[in-house]
Amino acid sequence: MKKRALQIIFSLALGLFIAGVIAAYQIKQDEKNQSVFIVAKDFGGPFTLVNQDNKTVTEKDFKNQWRLIYFGFTYCPAICPTELQKISSALKELGSTGEEITPIFISVDPERDTVNVMQAYVKLFHPRLIGLTGTPAQIDQAKKSYKIYAAKVKDETMTDYTVDHSSFIYLINPDNDLVRIFKTDDTAEDIIKITEQSFASYKSE
Ligand code: NI
Repeated sequence: MKKRALQIIFSLALGLFIAGVIAAYQIKQDEKNQSVFIVAKDFGGPFTLVNQDNKTVTEKDFKNQWRLIYFGFTYCPAICPTELQKISSALKELGSTGEEITPIFISVDPERDTVNVMQAYVKLFHPRLIGLTGTPAQIDQAKKSYKIYAAKVKDETMTDYTVDHSSFIYLINPDNDLVRIFKTDDTAEDIIKITEQSFASYKSE
């Protein structure tokens, strides 16, 4: 009888030990999957721009918010619309997480991207997409703050100019840390996956 009791205690202890090892292993795996590399702490800088409703906004208006920021221009034939479409699809797929993110499109072509042009353009992609433009000096300041390169390009064969520019989708967390830079070879699925991991990692901090 005593031997039987010892056997039960031993089996229970062994079972608990194994369960503990499995749990510890899973926590470690989760940590590995959720660990998100911060690209830059306290990213960006000051800017004063005008949104698509003709309201002046600054970086302070987006404080403590998750953001997906893209710089481009409305006359861009292919890359900008593709990148904005990726943001839009990702936000829809992300559901309630997507609703916590502010999508922002900032023009690098302030001369052609007037408030009215921006207003019509952002609507094509997402109902909450914010379109920011400003004077050339204001846009230069925003580009500098977010480390964006953009320059007008025109040759004799062109009737109008185009703008050569960096194509980065920035994921920024509420602490203003740059969590990820998505490039043109990243898909909407990549944005969804990394954003979900970033949210999980941020909430477990
Ligand atoms: Ni473009």
